[in-house]
Amino acid sequence: MGVWKGRAGRGKPVQVDLERLPRHVAIIMDGNGRWAKRRGLPRQAGHAAGAETFRTIATFAKELGLEYLTVYAFSTENWKRPEDEVGAIMALLERYLREAIDRMARDRVKMAFFGDLSPLSPRLLELCRQTQEISKGYEGCQVNICLNYGGRDEILRGAQAFARDCLAGKADPDSLGGQRFAGYLYSAGVPDPDLIIRPSGELRLSNFLLWQAAYAELYFTELLWPDFTKQELLKALADYQRRSRRYGGV
Ligand code: FPP
Repeated sequence: MGVWKGRAGRGKPVQVDLERLPRHVAIIMDGNGRWAKRRGLPRQAGHAAGAETFRTIATFAKELGLEYLTVYAFSTENWKRPEDEVGAIMALLERYLREAIDRMARDRVKMAFFGDLSPLSPRLLELCRQTQEISKGYEGCQVNICLNYGGRDEILRGAQAFARDCLAGKADPDSLGGQRFAGYLYSAGVPDPDLIIRPSGELRLSNFLLWQAAYAELYFTELLWPDFTKQELLKALADYQRRSRRYGGV
Protein backbone atom coordinates (compact mmCIF):
# COMPACT_ATOMS: atom_id res chain seq x y z
CA MET A 1 0.00 0.00 0.00
CA GLY A 2 1.07 3.65 0.04
CA VAL A 3 2.29 5.42 -3.05
CA TRP A 4 3.44 3.87 -6.31
CA LYS A 5 6.39 6.05 -7.23
CA GLY A 6 8.37 5.20 -10.25
CA ARG A 7 7.96 3.69 -13.63
CA ALA A 8 6.66 0.44 -14.98
CA GLY A 9 8.93 -0.15 -17.95
CA ARG A 10 10.19 2.82 -19.95
CA GLY A 11 8.95 6.38 -19.59
CA LYS A 12 8.87 9.13 -16.98
CA PRO A 13 8.22 8.11 -13.35
CA VAL A 14 4.57 8.38 -12.33
CA GLN A 15 3.20 8.83 -8.82
CA VAL A 16 0.00 7.03 -7.93
CA ASP A 17 -1.57 7.08 -4.47
CA LEU A 18 -2.55 3.47 -3.83
CA GLU A 19 -4.99 4.55 -1.11
CA ARG A 20 -7.04 6.56 -3.64
CA LEU A 21 -7.29 4.14 -6.51
CA PRO A 22 -10.51 3.97 -8.50
CA ARG A 23 -12.44 0.88 -7.39
CA HIS A 24 -13.45 0.05 -10.92
CA VAL A 25 -11.54 0.67 -14.16
CA ALA A 26 -13.10 -0.17 -17.52
CA ILE A 27 -11.24 -0.35 -20.83
CA ILE A 28 -12.31 -0.26 -24.47
CA MET A 29 -9.53 -2.36 -26.02
CA ASP A 30 -9.43 -0.46 -29.32
CA GLY A 31 -6.87 -0.20 -32.11
CA ASN A 32 -5.91 -3.85 -32.67
CA GLY A 33 -6.73 -3.67 -36.38
CA ARG A 34 -4.69 -0.50 -36.97
CA TRP A 35 -1.80 -1.93 -34.98
CA ALA A 36 -1.73 -4.94 -37.31
CA LYS A 37 -2.19 -2.85 -40.47
CA ARG A 38 0.80 -0.66 -39.59
CA ARG A 39 2.90 -3.80 -39.46
CA GLY A 40 1.49 -5.31 -42.63
CA LEU A 41 -0.09 -8.11 -40.58
CA PRO A 42 -3.62 -9.58 -40.70
CA ARG A 43 -6.12 -8.05 -38.24
CA GLN A 44 -6.09 -11.32 -36.29
CA ALA A 45 -2.46 -10.66 -35.34
CA GLY A 46 -3.60 -7.36 -33.80
CA HIS A 47 -6.21 -9.17 -31.70
CA ALA A 48 -3.62 -11.72 -30.58
CA ALA A 49 -1.32 -8.89 -29.50
CA GLY A 50 -4.32 -7.22 -27.82
CA ALA A 51 -5.06 -10.40 -25.86
CA GLU A 52 -1.45 -10.37 -24.57
CA THR A 53 -1.83 -6.74 -23.51
CA PHE A 54 -5.03 -7.67 -21.70
CA ARG A 55 -3.20 -10.42 -19.83
CA THR A 56 -0.46 -7.98 -18.75
CA ILE A 57 -2.90 -5.27 -17.68
CA ALA A 58 -5.22 -7.67 -15.81
CA THR A 59 -2.25 -9.06 -13.83
CA PHE A 60 -1.01 -5.54 -13.08
CA ALA A 61 -4.51 -4.40 -12.03
CA LYS A 62 -4.56 -7.12 -9.40
CA GLU A 63 -1.02 -6.30 -8.28
CA LEU A 64 -1.99 -2.63 -7.83
CA GLY A 65 -5.09 -3.53 -5.86
CA LEU A 66 -7.88 -2.53 -8.25
CA GLU A 67 -11.15 -4.19 -7.24
CA TYR A 68 -12.80 -4.39 -10.66
CA LEU A 69 -11.46 -4.37 -14.21
CA THR A 70 -14.00 -4.51 -17.04
CA VAL A 71 -12.94 -4.92 -20.66
CA TYR A 72 -14.87 -4.68 -23.92
CA ALA A 73 -13.86 -7.83 -25.79
CA PHE A 74 -16.73 -8.26 -28.27
CA SER A 75 -19.72 -6.02 -28.92
CA THR A 76 -23.20 -6.85 -30.17
CA GLU A 77 -22.12 -5.07 -33.39
CA ASN A 78 -18.84 -6.97 -33.84
CA TRP A 79 -20.68 -9.93 -35.51
CA LYS A 80 -20.69 -7.73 -38.64
CA ARG A 81 -16.94 -8.33 -39.02
CA PRO A 82 -15.63 -10.96 -41.47
CA GLU A 83 -16.22 -14.52 -40.26
CA ASP A 84 -12.51 -15.33 -39.94
CA GLU A 85 -11.92 -12.26 -37.74
CA VAL A 86 -14.86 -13.16 -35.47
CA GLY A 87 -13.55 -16.75 -35.32
CA ALA A 88 -10.06 -15.52 -34.39
CA ILE A 89 -11.38 -13.37 -31.51
CA MET A 90 -13.48 -16.30 -30.22
CA ALA A 91 -10.44 -18.60 -30.44
CA LEU A 92 -8.34 -16.09 -28.46
CA LEU A 93 -11.03 -15.92 -25.79
CA GLU A 94 -11.16 -19.71 -25.58
CA ARG A 95 -7.41 -19.87 -25.19
CA TYR A 96 -7.38 -17.15 -22.58
CA LEU A 97 -10.12 -18.84 -20.52
CA ARG A 98 -8.44 -22.27 -20.72
CA GLU A 99 -5.21 -20.75 -19.43
CA ALA A 100 -7.11 -18.77 -16.80
CA ILE A 101 -8.66 -22.02 -15.52
CA ASP A 102 -5.21 -23.65 -15.28
CA ARG A 103 -3.88 -20.71 -13.25
CA MET A 104 -7.00 -19.94 -11.25
CA ALA A 105 -6.00 -21.54 -7.96
CA ARG A 106 -2.81 -19.45 -8.03
CA ASP A 107 -4.13 -16.14 -9.45
CA ARG A 108 -7.46 -16.13 -7.58
CA VAL A 109 -9.02 -13.57 -9.91
CA LYS A 110 -12.81 -13.64 -9.95
CA MET A 111 -14.18 -13.74 -13.50
CA ALA A 112 -17.54 -12.56 -14.74
CA PHE A 113 -19.08 -11.91 -18.15
CA PHE A 114 -21.36 -9.08 -19.19
CA GLY A 115 -23.44 -9.72 -22.29
CA ASP A 116 -25.77 -12.20 -23.94
CA LEU A 117 -23.65 -15.34 -24.07
CA SER A 118 -26.32 -17.48 -25.76
CA PRO A 119 -24.98 -17.17 -29.36
CA LEU A 120 -21.48 -18.30 -28.32
CA SER A 121 -20.22 -21.75 -29.26
CA PRO A 122 -21.04 -24.46 -26.69
CA ARG A 123 -17.28 -24.78 -26.00
CA LEU A 124 -16.80 -21.10 -25.23
CA LEU A 125 -20.04 -21.00 -23.26
CA GLU A 126 -18.83 -23.91 -21.13
CA LEU A 127 -15.48 -22.16 -20.48
CA CYS A 128 -17.32 -19.00 -19.40
CA ARG A 129 -19.49 -21.08 -17.07
CA GLN A 130 -16.50 -22.91 -15.61
CA THR A 131 -14.39 -19.81 -14.98
CA GLN A 132 -17.32 -18.11 -13.25
CA GLU A 133 -18.13 -21.18 -11.19
CA ILE A 134 -14.56 -21.87 -10.05
CA SER A 135 -13.81 -18.24 -9.16
CA LYS A 136 -17.14 -17.17 -7.66
CA GLY A 137 -15.85 -17.24 -4.08
CA TYR A 138 -12.60 -15.37 -4.79
CA GLU A 139 -12.14 -11.94 -3.28
CA GLY A 140 -9.81 -9.09 -4.16
CA CYS A 141 -9.99 -8.50 -7.90
CA GLN A 142 -12.82 -9.17 -10.32
CA VAL A 143 -12.34 -9.13 -14.08
CA ASN A 144 -15.47 -8.63 -16.14
CA ILE A 145 -15.25 -9.53 -19.81
CA CYS A 146 -17.92 -7.90 -21.98
CA LEU A 147 -18.84 -10.46 -24.61
CA ASN A 148 -21.63 -9.96 -27.14
CA TYR A 149 -22.26 -6.87 -25.05
CA GLY A 150 -24.01 -3.64 -25.97
CA GLY A 151 -25.00 -0.88 -23.57
CA ARG A 152 -28.37 -0.23 -25.21
CA ASP A 153 -29.10 -3.94 -25.43
CA GLU A 154 -28.31 -4.29 -21.72
CA ILE A 155 -30.69 -1.45 -20.78
CA LEU A 156 -33.47 -2.85 -23.01
CA ARG A 157 -33.09 -6.31 -21.48
CA GLY A 158 -33.18 -4.76 -18.01
CA ALA A 159 -36.37 -2.88 -18.89
CA GLN A 160 -37.96 -6.08 -20.23
CA ALA A 161 -37.00 -8.05 -17.13
CA PHE A 162 -38.39 -5.31 -14.89
CA ALA A 163 -41.63 -5.18 -16.91
CA ARG A 164 -41.97 -8.96 -16.56
CA ASP A 165 -41.52 -8.66 -12.79
CA CYS A 166 -44.24 -5.97 -12.72
CA LEU A 167 -46.62 -8.20 -14.67
CA ALA A 168 -45.88 -11.04 -12.25
CA GLY A 169 -46.68 -8.75 -9.32
CA LYS A 170 -43.08 -8.88 -8.04
CA ALA A 171 -42.25 -5.22 -8.77
CA ASP A 172 -44.07 -1.90 -8.85
CA PRO A 173 -43.36 0.63 -11.67
CA ASP A 174 -43.84 3.61 -9.34
CA SER A 175 -41.17 2.41 -6.94
CA LEU A 176 -38.43 1.97 -9.55
CA GLY A 177 -35.25 3.90 -8.79
CA GLY A 178 -31.77 3.90 -10.33
CA GLN A 179 -30.30 1.56 -7.78
CA ARG A 180 -33.08 -0.97 -8.21
CA PHE A 181 -32.85 -0.78 -12.00
CA ALA A 182 -29.09 -1.33 -11.87
CA GLY A 183 -29.90 -4.72 -10.35
CA TYR A 184 -31.47 -5.74 -13.68
CA LEU A 185 -28.27 -5.08 -15.64
CA TYR A 186 -25.44 -7.52 -16.43
CA SER A 187 -23.34 -5.53 -13.95
CA ALA A 188 -25.74 -6.14 -11.02
CA GLY A 189 -23.78 -5.91 -7.77
CA VAL A 190 -20.71 -4.31 -9.37
CA PRO A 191 -20.09 -0.61 -8.61
CA ASP A 192 -20.12 1.77 -11.58
CA PRO A 193 -16.77 2.31 -13.28
CA ASP A 194 -14.85 5.26 -11.85
CA LEU A 195 -12.52 5.46 -14.82
CA ILE A 196 -13.06 4.45 -18.44
CA ILE A 197 -9.97 4.22 -20.63
CA ARG A 198 -10.10 4.27 -24.41
CA PRO A 199 -6.91 3.91 -26.39
CA SER A 200 -6.46 4.44 -30.16
CA GLY A 201 -7.43 8.12 -30.33
CA GLU A 202 -11.20 7.57 -30.73
CA LEU A 203 -13.24 9.87 -28.50
CA ARG A 204 -16.48 7.99 -27.96
CA LEU A 205 -18.05 5.30 -25.78
CA SER A 206 -19.28 3.06 -28.62
CA ASN A 207 -22.19 1.57 -26.68
CA PHE A 208 -19.97 0.59 -23.71
CA LEU A 209 -21.49 0.65 -20.19
CA LEU A 210 -23.93 3.42 -21.14
CA TRP A 211 -25.90 3.25 -17.89
CA GLN A 212 -22.88 2.70 -15.66
CA ALA A 213 -20.74 5.44 -17.27
CA ALA A 214 -22.97 8.26 -15.97
CA TYR A 215 -20.27 9.74 -13.69
CA ALA A 216 -17.19 7.91 -14.92
CA GLU A 217 -14.03 9.87 -15.59
CA LEU A 218 -12.85 9.34 -19.16
CA TYR A 219 -9.24 8.91 -20.23
CA PHE A 220 -8.23 8.84 -23.87
CA THR A 221 -4.82 8.04 -25.32
CA GLU A 222 -3.48 7.86 -28.87
CA LEU A 223 -1.71 4.57 -28.11
CA LEU A 224 -3.21 1.54 -29.83
CA TRP A 225 -4.38 -1.19 -27.43
CA PRO A 226 -1.56 -3.68 -28.22
CA ASP A 227 0.93 -0.88 -27.36
CA PHE A 228 -0.82 -0.03 -24.08
CA THR A 229 1.51 -0.63 -21.14
CA LYS A 230 1.51 -0.84 -17.35
CA GLN A 231 3.15 2.59 -17.45
CA GLU A 232 0.18 3.96 -19.43
CA LEU A 233 -2.24 2.51 -16.87
CA LEU A 234 -0.27 4.29 -14.13
CA LYS A 235 -0.50 7.53 -16.15
CA ALA A 236 -4.27 7.10 -16.46
CA LEU A 237 -4.56 6.46 -12.70
CA ALA A 238 -2.42 9.51 -11.88
CA ASP A 239 -4.57 11.61 -14.23
CA TYR A 240 -7.72 10.26 -12.52
CA GLN A 241 -6.33 11.25 -9.12
CA ARG A 242 -5.96 14.85 -10.29
CA ARG A 243 -9.65 15.11 -11.20
CA SER A 244 -12.33 16.56 -8.97
CA ARG A 245 -15.43 14.34 -8.93
CA ARG A 246 -18.58 16.22 -8.01
CA TYR A 247 -21.43 13.99 -9.25
CA GLY A 248 -23.46 17.08 -10.16
CA GLY A 249 -22.82 18.78 -6.79
CA VAL A 250 -20.37 21.61 -6.08
C1 FPP B 1 -11.18 -3.45 -31.14
O1 FPP B 1 -10.11 -3.13 -32.01
C2 FPP B 1 -10.98 -4.78 -30.59
C3 FPP B 1 -11.87 -5.82 -30.65
C4 FPP B 1 -13.18 -5.71 -31.32
C5 FPP B 1 -11.55 -7.16 -30.09
C6 FPP B 1 -10.89 -7.18 -28.75
C7 FPP B 1 -10.44 -8.56 -28.47
C8 FPP B 1 -9.25 -8.92 -27.92
C9 FPP B 1 -8.28 -7.95 -27.38
C10 FPP B 1 -8.84 -10.35 -27.84
C11 FPP B 1 -9.58 -11.28 -26.92
C12 FPP B 1 -9.90 -10.73 -25.58
C13 FPP B 1 -9.55 -11.27 -24.38
C14 FPP B 1 -10.15 -10.69 -23.15
C15 FPP B 1 -8.59 -12.39 -24.22
P1 FPP B 1 -10.40 -2.95 -33.58
O2 FPP B 1 -10.25 -4.27 -34.24
O3 FPP B 1 -11.72 -2.29 -33.78
O4 FPP B 1 -9.23 -2.00 -33.99
P2 FPP B 1 -9.26 -0.92 -35.19
O5 FPP B 1 -10.25 0.14 -34.78
O6 FPP B 1 -7.86 -0.42 -35.23
O7 FPP B 1 -9.68 -1.65 -36.43
